[in-house]
Amino acid sequence: MKYLHALQLFTVLVLCRLPMVFSQHRVILTNDDGWAEAQIRAEYEALNDAGFDVVLSAPAENRSGTGSQSEDPTPRTEPCEFDSCPAGSPAVGFNETDPRLNYVNAFPVDSVRFGIQTLAPKFFNGKPDVVISGSNVGNNLNLGVLGSGTVGAAAEGSKEGIPSIAFSGATASHISFTSLESDPTSQDSIAARIYSSLIVTFVNKLLDGPGDILPSHTFLNVNFAPTDNCPTAESFKFIFTRLIPNPFVKDVNTCGKDHLPDETTTVARGCFASITPLDDRLKLDVGKEKQAQVLGRLNGLVSCL
Ligand SMILES: *[C@@H]1O[C@H](CO)[C@@H](O)[C@H](O)[C@H]1NC(C)=O
Ligand SMILES: *[C@@H]1O[C@H](CO)[C@@H](O)[C@H](O)[C@H]1NC(C)=O
Repeated sequence: MKYLHALQLFTVLVLCRLPMVFSQHRVILTNDDGWAEAQIRAEYEALNDAGFDVVLSAPAENRSGTGSQSEDPTPRTEPCEFDSCPAGSPAVGFNETDPRLNYVNAFPVDSVRFGIQTLAPKFFNGKPDVVISGSNVGNNLNLGVLGSGTVGAAAEGSKEGIPSIAFSGATASHISFTSLESDPTSQDSIAARIYSSLIVTFVNKLLDGPGDILPSHTFLNVNFAPTDNCPTAESFKFIFTRLIPNPFVKDVNTCGKDHLPDETTTVARGCFASITPLDDRLKLDVGKEKQAQVLGRLNGLVSCL
């Protein structure tokens, strides 16, 4: 009887996993806060739990505010952030027990390049389906996107032809991934879990179905409001936005208007996640045709303010 139970359980497990094997989305996960940041590791777990095939490739330390800068990776002269690798470690390295966790001792742009060009062929036998950059520690709004390494990495992914999204969250501070376990009820740990859950929902929706995932030269900038008054992922609503407030430009027609709300105002208004499509060369708003394409893709996920 015991054996039968074990066999049944095994069969159920195998059957449950099978559909995931075929629909597994391949992700390069990066950021500018570093590979050992709590937020990126919470996402790594959440994406894995949701059946994604994830390889993390992020800077060895905090490289916030470095935009689209690039350099050749060099060996570490100091330990990686939060002592996550010893001084003297090679220019690129990985976690010995989980080689899908990789650091690159250079800028965010270099990390995402290494992910797409070197790690993806090795782990995926090809290109990733999507680049997820962030969620960043702190929002990246309005012209703030120009200096953001998280946004820089997403723009780079898009230039390399991979659908790319930059995520940023208001509630977060620079803390080690080990605090997710040691302090699971801290505000930052809880926020990291909430944002990770929202990212899983968002990326699943974006990648779902046939056709182009994003228009040419377009990536997405997604910002999450603080979690203070938004205790679960379900308390958030996704809103389609623009980067720069502009009452004179005609945007895609949605929610009864041809002007989109701007992301800065939207994120300040409550439990919202703003979604702004940006041009990967300019890091500025795209035109209404491309907005319409993105909005169509996200049909059913996006609410009106
Ligand atoms: C991360 O780097 C940025 C830019 O250099 C800096 O402003 C910030 O204070 C750094 N954060 C930490 C926790 O080191
Ligand atoms: C490496 O991975 C192991 C197993 O997942 C984990 O226990 C350890 O904390 C990780 N270390 C780093 C620096 O990622």
